[in-house]
Amino acid sequence: MCGIVGYVGAPDGAAAVDIVLDGLSTLEYRGYDSAGLAVPSPSLAVHKAKGELEALEDTVPRGDLAGALTGIGHTRWSTHGEPSDVNAHPHTDEAGRVAVVHNGIIENYQRLRDDLTEAGVAFRSETDTEVVPHLIGRYLDRGAAPEDAFRRSIDQLEGSYAIAAVFDGSETVYAARQDSPLVVGVGETGTYLASDVPAFVRHTDRVCYLENGDFARLTGNKAVITDDDGNPVDRPTETVAWDPEDAEKSGYDHYMLKEIHEQPSALRQCLRGRIDDLEGTVTLEDLDGLAHDGPVQFVACGTSYHAALVGAERLRRTGIPAQVFLASEYATDRVPVGADTLVVGVTQSGETADTLRALREAARAGATTLAVTNTVGSSAARECDHALYIRAGPEIGVAATKTFASQQLALDLLAAALGDGSDRAALKALRDIPGQVQTILETSDARAVAEAFVDADGYFFIGRGYHYPVALEGALKMKEITYRHAEGFAAGELKHGPLALVTENTPVFAVVTGDDEAARKTIGNVKEVEARDAPVVAITDGESDVTRYADHVLEIPAIDELSASVLANVQLQLVAYWVANQLGRSIDKPRNLAKSVTVE
Ligand code: F6R
Repeated sequence: MCGIVGYVGAPDGAAAVDIVLDGLSTLEYRGYDSAGLAVPSPSLAVHKAKGELEALEDTVPRGDLAGALTGIGHTRWSTHGEPSDVNAHPHTDEAGRVAVVHNGIIENYQRLRDDLTEAGVAFRSETDTEVVPHLIGRYLDRGAAPEDAFRRSIDQLEGSYAIAAVFDGSETVYAARQDSPLVVGVGETGTYLASDVPAFVRHTDRVCYLENGDFARLTGNKAVITDDDGNPVDRPTETVAWDPEDAEKSGYDHYMLKEIHEQPSALRQCLRGRIDDLEGTVTLEDLDGLAHDGPVQFVACGTSYHAALVGAERLRRTGIPAQVFLASEYATDRVPVGADTLVVGVTQSGETADTLRALREAARAGATTLAVTNTVGSSAARECDHALYIRAGPEIGVAATKTFASQQLALDLLAAALGDGSDRAALKALRDIPGQVQTILETSDARAVAEAFVDADGYFFIGRGYHYPVALEGALKMKEITYRHAEGFAAGELKHGPLALVTENTPVFAVVTGDDEAARKTIGNVKEVEARDAPVVAITDGESDVTRYADHVLEIPAIDELSASVLANVQLQLVAYWVANQLGRSIDKPRNLAKSVTVE
């Protein structure tokens, strides 16, 4: 779980050190416990530092490196070896001829390390990555040319990797991909390489996604992509629609707040061209004719799991049997899955190892697989039989916000496409969601509520039906960015145990919309906590009398129950954000977390 960057400038290109540091700053969401860079010319120089990118920026002698047009960089989230200067990438061979950055896990590294140690190599770090430069070094010792040494070393690796290497004195970047993302950018004044497009999108929007088994050789004016055997392979160059501004904070204090505010446009983007509400039809061009009438299983983690809970409920209501599994459990459980099952992986990054593993197990069992993802060209999108893109744009804040909203909407569309898509009123209601989210963003009292409860002992969230996943998500967001205790419960479960935790210093956030049986029952649960003196915050459309029992009200526009889950969540995102802000937390990069979890 790391971000890598590579660059080779044309003669009039920018300094590699600037391009690499700038690229790394957009990839910190992939990990931020240490960072490093290497420039190979005029002679190989490596700089690395424990801590966030700032620590590296403070130590790199930019002036000395200003003339170098080639470089690679890395931002790390530890998998082997604690965060430290020495474990930071790039890693080099003993003679300092090659520097390597790596994202992924080399599964056979211990055996390779033992062999190399026996052959006299002295390892400096505890990382799996360090075997790679030493392998390359051994081939160089035997007279191999750099590219040959690189390829032969890569051939020996088992596991997942996106790797880039530079050689002393050479203006070329070599790269290889297996099960970790890697994308090439082709610009006017240089060629780029990165784990993700935002790293170079301000320099070029022409990109080319590497496939598993691909090698790339980047020079100042082109990238040559070849297969394992060195034969050229044709990878189409695409123009990405991401605006460079999308990867910036645009004046917000945090990416998370910016991304919360981007939800109306993200949701519009998700719907664009997919609904014909006159005809009452949904067209999901990405699905390439997927028609399915068997059972559906969802696999996902974290926030995406909560979106999957909403999606499954939606499918069940259209008559399609649907179950949701935590991806990390799915692969090892004996889940009944067969050729008639559609297994849907919900994953904004498309790179979550648990979800990929679950999808691979499902595919092995003969199921049809579908990735619902934000990331075109991600591993999930490539490996599944079908991919449905949520089109939320890049999400940099570690806490998922806009992607959760867009996942829910995309799953609504999926349910309509697979089930009976002719409910015109429901489809029309989907179109209203972006405007209603905008209204919430403009009128929300979440900040005042957060201020009222910033010193609470803990936070509880309750909801029924579609609002149960919202309660879970509200609590997850609160936990991850405030570091405070928070739990989400199905409203009816409170009385079966959790009620013992409720005090006058534990606010209970109750999501109640409409005035049906579910709403009335949840109000009964609200009365239970009110009777124990807990402050109640109602997230409601005002249709029921829940406000009579609430100390604070966070309003959402009246809308059908399904769409209300998207709206209610926006209020809870804002509450979590403002509590974390009051507490001075590292909101975009909460401790111990990373955006894309590429280990199981
Ligand atoms: C929480 C959060 C995580 C992710 C989870 C799955 O804010 O972002 O819980 O939802 O790690 O990630 P994806 O969706 O990339 O598979």
